[in-house]
Amino acid sequence: MVKPRLVFHPSPGRVLVAPSILSADFARLGEECRSVLAAGADLLHLDVMDGHFVPNLTMGPALCASLHQELPEALLDVHLMVQEPQRFIDGFAEAGAGNYTFHVEVAAEPAALAGRVRRSGMSAGLAINPPTPVERILPHVEHFDLILIMSVNPGFAGQSFIADVLEKARRIRPLLRPDQRLEIDGGVNAKTAPMCRAAGCDVLVAATAVFHADDYIEAVAAIRG
Ligand code: DX5
Ligand code: ZN
Repeated sequence: MVKPRLVFHPSPGRVLVAPSILSADFARLGEECRSVLAAGADLLHLDVMDGHFVPNLTMGPALCASLHQELPEALLDVHLMVQEPQRFIDGFAEAGAGNYTFHVEVAAEPAALAGRVRRSGMSAGLAINPPTPVERILPHVEHFDLILIMSVNPGFAGQSFIADVLEKARRIRPLLRPDQRLEIDGGVNAKTAPMCRAAGCDVLVAATAVFHADDYIEAVAAIRG
């Protein structure tokens, strides 16, 4: 089965909007996802939490597989906030995930794990939490398709944007090739998105600001700018 991939060309420079389904109505998930994609969202962000790396539990491969079946064209961007990301690569690859992002805080050998992710048919992302110094991620940047800067301490939707992390974006952006993306996640909304874009982020994740908006088209457009 050919899996959807995050295709970063042919639109380098275009800011991508990635609604996080964490704030969707789970009882109407397919419909909610179809609506945000119709409203202009570029991909869907799935926040996977294990109750260890973060103090919350969310979703796994079965939910990803259901979404992939319902919306086969959608790019599913899976963000693993888990202690052992190596355990779930095959499950999410089989479930149709397009991108698999894990955290630098728990990866002993990030480049080797990225290789495993790619061999399973997904692109690979590396995430960094707000308290982790940017120096932790710099040596690994070249091995990834995407770098994810967390702008809240992960675990819950609806937290306030931590503007200090924009310095990380400014450090990482000049290191990236045109085929790599810089994603930011947490507290992104119409007010904070312009700062993210100015700092070089080109994939903007938002849960609350999209799914709690009255008008998805307006919400997506405001984040894209
Ligand atoms: C952190 C998650 C985020 C977060 C986004 O807990 O990785 O995707 O839920 O939620 P908002 O956009 O509401 O801050
Ligand atoms: Zn996320």
